[in-house]
Amino acid sequence: MASNVDPYNRKITYLRVSVTDRCNLRCMYCTPVKDLKLLDHADILSYEEILKVIHVATDLGIKKVRLTGGEPLLRRNFVHLVESACRIPQIEDVSITTNGVLLQEMARPLFEAGLRRINVSLDTLNPLKYTKITRRECFDAVWNGLQVAEAIGFSPIKVNVVVIKGINDNELLRFADLSVRKPYHIRFIEYMPIGRDSNWAPEKYVPSDKIRSKLETFGPLRKIPRSIHDGPAERYQFQSAKGEIGFISALSHHFCPLCNRLRLTADGKLRPCLFADDEVDIKSPLRNGYSHQDLRDVFQQAIARKPRRHHAEILKKRECLRSMSTIGG
Ligand code: 5AD
Ligand code: SF4
Repeated sequence: MASNVDPYNRKITYLRVSVTDRCNLRCMYCTPVKDLKLLDHADILSYEEILKVIHVATDLGIKKVRLTGGEPLLRRNFVHLVESACRIPQIEDVSITTNGVLLQEMARPLFEAGLRRINVSLDTLNPLKYTKITRRECFDAVWNGLQVAEAIGFSPIKVNVVVIKGINDNELLRFADLSVRKPYHIRFIEYMPIGRDSNWAPEKYVPSDKIRSKLETFGPLRKIPRSIHDGPAERYQFQSAKGEIGFISALSHHFCPLCNRLRLTADGKLRPCLFADDEVDIKSPLRNGYSHQDLRDVFQQAIARKPRRHHAEILKKRECLRSMSTIGG
């Protein structure tokens, strides 16, 4: 019997798809300054192949899809993929994670394709610091992109902030204020030791509890009860705020028991866990003409290989060497 329940009784309902490893930024925690190795085009799944995997996944109970990168808006005809994903009846929720650089011009066509939910990565509200973190001068483009997306009616708009000590941990109260003034869900993400190029070090890491204590000097935070649709984020809100605050505490609080996801990398590998390099190849089966049923078995294998929990403890050896830009977060 086909099942989306993994060996630890977790129901897998969420697929994250990286559509490209290309990016127009070079974030200090993601990509190296030089010797950036990119995948060959032939190794990247076509839209047809991605949609086939999504169809197989819906057979196994996947109801939610997120398209990520690299930077997904860089891929040619991306709107077409979004539109096709939005049309799949069993998929109840389609979202994207973008760096927002191209959002000003892409927000309207994406909305018209059926997309409503976006996550935009923005680690600082200071344009000069933005250039330091991303090695590109794109702050204004991203900020304007957020305003355009808001005006068009995207909801929710989530803003991902990776907190790095000595870089942006002095801006927490500015982000708190932003969550009051704007209907944005600001999500503070713990800096994670993912990929060879993450430049991660224990002394740059700020645990969520510390971030929260700092935010509480801005005002009292009310906890929003967890709903079954919530991912790993713990949700809070300031009084009379238009937006929200969220914490994604991959290291300090193990959310593995709540894990409901599988990842498809840009080069066609199903990845049971973000933090471990164990992968199941689905590209070769796709290209070798496997039947729908056989592809379903491959997908099921990946579900069966989900580990109980990750071991990315702060001082331990790194188990994930693959770069974030091919997994998509
Ligand atoms: N730690 C935490 N978050 C990261 N991201 C990329 N690399 C890291 C890392 N090492 C974030 C991006 C983006 C999301 C997909 O993952 O900023 O918001
Ligand atoms: Fe690009 Fe995202 Fe990596 Fe930054 S973190 S370089 S925006 S893929």
